[in-house]
Amino acid sequence: MALPDAPLLRALAGDRPDRTPVWFMRQAGRSLPEYRELRVGTRMLDACLTPELAAEITLQPVRRHGVDAGIFFSDIVVPLRLAGVEVEIEPGRGPVFADPVRTADDVARLTAIDPEALDTPAIAEAVRIVTAELGETPLIGFAGAPFTLAAYLVEGGPSKEHLRARAMMHADPESWNRLAGWLARLSRTFLSAQRDAGAAAVQLFDSWAGSLAPEDYRTFVAPHSAAAVRGIGAPVIHFGVGTGPFLGDMRLIGADGAPAADAVGVDWRMPLDTAAGILGPDVTVQGNIDPALLTAPWPVLEEQVREVLRRGRSARAHILNLGHGVPPETDPAVLTRIVELARTVDAENAAEAERS
Ligand code: CP3
Repeated sequence: MALPDAPLLRALAGDRPDRTPVWFMRQAGRSLPEYRELRVGTRMLDACLTPELAAEITLQPVRRHGVDAGIFFSDIVVPLRLAGVEVEIEPGRGPVFADPVRTADDVARLTAIDPEALDTPAIAEAVRIVTAELGETPLIGFAGAPFTLAAYLVEGGPSKEHLRARAMMHADPESWNRLAGWLARLSRTFLSAQRDAGAAAVQLFDSWAGSLAPEDYRTFVAPHSAAAVRGIGAPVIHFGVGTGPFLGDMRLIGADGAPAADAVGVDWRMPLDTAAGILGPDVTVQGNIDPALLTAPWPVLEEQVREVLRRGRSARAHILNLGHGVPPETDPAVLTRIVELARTVDAENAAEAERS
């Protein structure tokens, strides 16, 4: 099987391969004992920038679960670190910045850095190790969307409602657009480095976009997200949490009417058939098992997975995933079991099609 025939890439192109592609956001990480062992004594961002380590962590969940894609082990703030911004990831908390970017002067200072001049050899080297090992299984590269990055950067750390970033849009739209435009170029550089080194698809994470009013998303955010990914040279998955009220906008339709996203990731709040109705015939859906159900008794979770697969059939194509990342306390055996169940359902559907 050649890489273009990989179920994930066929689904992104709008086909329905015999095997429904499945992978999990945050499949690499703390749910795996082999990850926790490797990470002892190494800070998160240092691990991301050590090629052999990042490559090995990326490969762990692919070996263990037999998923249809690897997701590059890195973080949305890695390109900021590479641009010289002082950032750390605090365990149990998330990204924390020494100097929040709040005023017009802060924005001017930050955006004086050339976002295309990133030092990316460590990223490229890790991707090359991974793709050589993965062979016919595609690697998904990723980056943070401008709003989600700004939500951390303007606040200086994690926040619930991202008030400061949302305020900047209205209080000083010029600074906002300068900041978001710069972040779009930075994420694009990070994605290009992964694609050039062998990533077969990319995912843009706008995890916190759900805190925005639809009109603000449309005006202040979508154009910058589109700039990060349009024409990147690899199929694009665009993911956000709580984006139901403006799901159609997540397609990132351009002036020519064509979507910049080949697939849109849907969280657990909206049934996939409803999402497919909104997204239309030009976009693949990804999702949307509720991560909360990973701790439910297996028959409950099994019914949910079957339901998600059923509803996913009303889209042009479906990539099975969770509605958000794997929680750290997840029993990894449950994830393997979901992959096996997806294969079983594919076989049942094939037998059904044979009979009729
Ligand atoms: O397996 C994968 O999905 C690939 C790796 C990946 C990580 N972060 C590794 C990571 C990806 C795709 C991300 C993206 C990311 N980072 C997002 C978007 C995805 C999402 O979940 O919505 C966001 C918002 C971040 C910012 C961030 N980095 C947070 C909120 C945290 C968690 C902090 C904590 O300890 O709870 C991180 C740290 C992080 N990124 C970890 C991992 C494996 C945990 C680090 C550890 O092991 O201590």
